Amino acid sequence: MRFIIKSYGCQMNSYDSQRMEDSLLKAGYRRANSLEDARLIVFNTCCIREKASEKLFSDLGRVRALMDKSSEKFLIAVTGCVAQFQGQEVLKRAPWVNIILGPQDIHQIAAKVDESMKKHVSGKLTAAALGAQDKFKRLSKQFFRRNIAEFITIQEGCDNFCTYCVVPYARGREFSRDVAEIIQEAERLILLGSKEITLLGQNVNAYAGKGPDGEKCDLASLLEKLAQLKGLKRLRYVTSHPRYVDEKIAEAHKKNDILAPSLHLPIQAGSNRVLERMNRKYTVEEYLKCVQMLRKHRPDMALSSDFIVGFPGETDEDFQQTIELVEKVKFSQAYSFRYSPRPNTAAATMADQIPDSVKTKRLKILQDILNKQQNEFNRSFVGKRLNVLFTKNGRHKNQMTGRSEYAQAVTVCDGVVSVGDIVEVEVTETLAHSLIGRIA
Ligand code: 5AD
Ligand code: SF4
Repeated sequence: MRFIIKSYGCQMNSYDSQRMEDSLLKAGYRRANSLEDARLIVFNTCCIREKASEKLFSDLGRVRALMDKSSEKFLIAVTGCVAQFQGQEVLKRAPWVNIILGPQDIHQIAAKVDESMKKHVSGKLTAAALGAQDKFKRLSKQFFRRNIAEFITIQEGCDNFCTYCVVPYARGREFSRDVAEIIQEAERLILLGSKEITLLGQNVNAYAGKGPDGEKCDLASLLEKLAQLKGLKRLRYVTSHPRYVDEKIAEAHKKNDILAPSLHLPIQAGSNRVLERMNRKYTVEEYLKCVQMLRKHRPDMALSSDFIVGFPGETDEDFQQTIELVEKVKFSQAYSFRYSPRPNTAAATMADQIPDSVKTKRLKILQDILNKQQNEFNRSFVGKRLNVLFTKNGRHKNQMTGRSEYAQAVTVCDGVVSVGDIVEVEVTETLAHSLIGRIA
């Protein structure tokens, strides 16, 4: 049987999708090239904002139309955060779904597919427990295909309970994988040709996995261990919570060249009043101190961030403070979102919800400034050289695309580099979200 996995949302979801793909291939299923060609369709879902959840329901509608037109039998699985968080609703709105698996149950995918095929059972709700311990131990140890730049989930779940966020409900409590398990996985990826690894965690700086000696190991120590692996050229980690970034991490960036000088450090808002209502547990002043400390050890550290506009109670003055913060820090890149009320979260029931029109207006103002900063950051490299790790062929002949150490997308058209090469590139021009260059 041929399968296809559609992944929504964050990098941790992509990682989970890839691990499900490994499990299905190991069980003898084959990849399909398109939705039409597949008989097993897996939607690995995201519920961080309402739009992400709704995307699933419109895709399930599309699949229903496909099923109605065909005489073939289909198996439909919904996995990931929507399965965990809104599994009952999925079954009610789309009763043609056969399998529901929360993010901590994805290792069961092949077994559930086998079971559904044998018994023609449908709509079994399995999502319940939210402990990641089992999942990693039981996922396939066999990797079938890997990219030059890869991911390893090292920490999952979150104990922070920011008042807007569903992650603690969808992914569960914080859990860290053992050091040995992570190193083994990294070695396996390197053997398959990966040159860059990004460590993933919802609160990655809170990593506290068991080391070989039985002692707890923190993120900085784990990074030092991974930096020793032969064949690995670049290391990154996301997502950092400003409250947990310490001097030891900043020093690790200074000591280890393999640690890329770029960091995703979401601030969310630039007003202390809003940050407090978000339960972010830091102030603007503390965030700025953190930035200063990072740049003390690594003056070229490129910072990216996430922002939410229109959080309940956000006044024009609060929003203005976000703009001032942006002007102070100067981000190399950023993601910004309209606040989206999520079920079960504290902020969803707060008074003073902001009208959509105000959210949209604020988002536009913020994005214009963030785009301008990204352009300025990129333009500052014209005529200079950057180390680029080439990860894939470009759209046109002889084109190759990769990432600089500062996480910028860089394209060259020389036709002499190959996927996996790290090459010095002289930047010749900048586009909206990428750089063009030639081999130096
Ligand atoms: N509404 C809007 N944005 C959100 N994020 C998380 N929850 C919400 C929400 N309810 C954003 C935050 C986070 C990023 C992954 O998604 O900025 O850092
Ligand atoms: Fe959500 Fe906050 Fe945890 Fe990030 S730190 S996953 S925003 S609860």
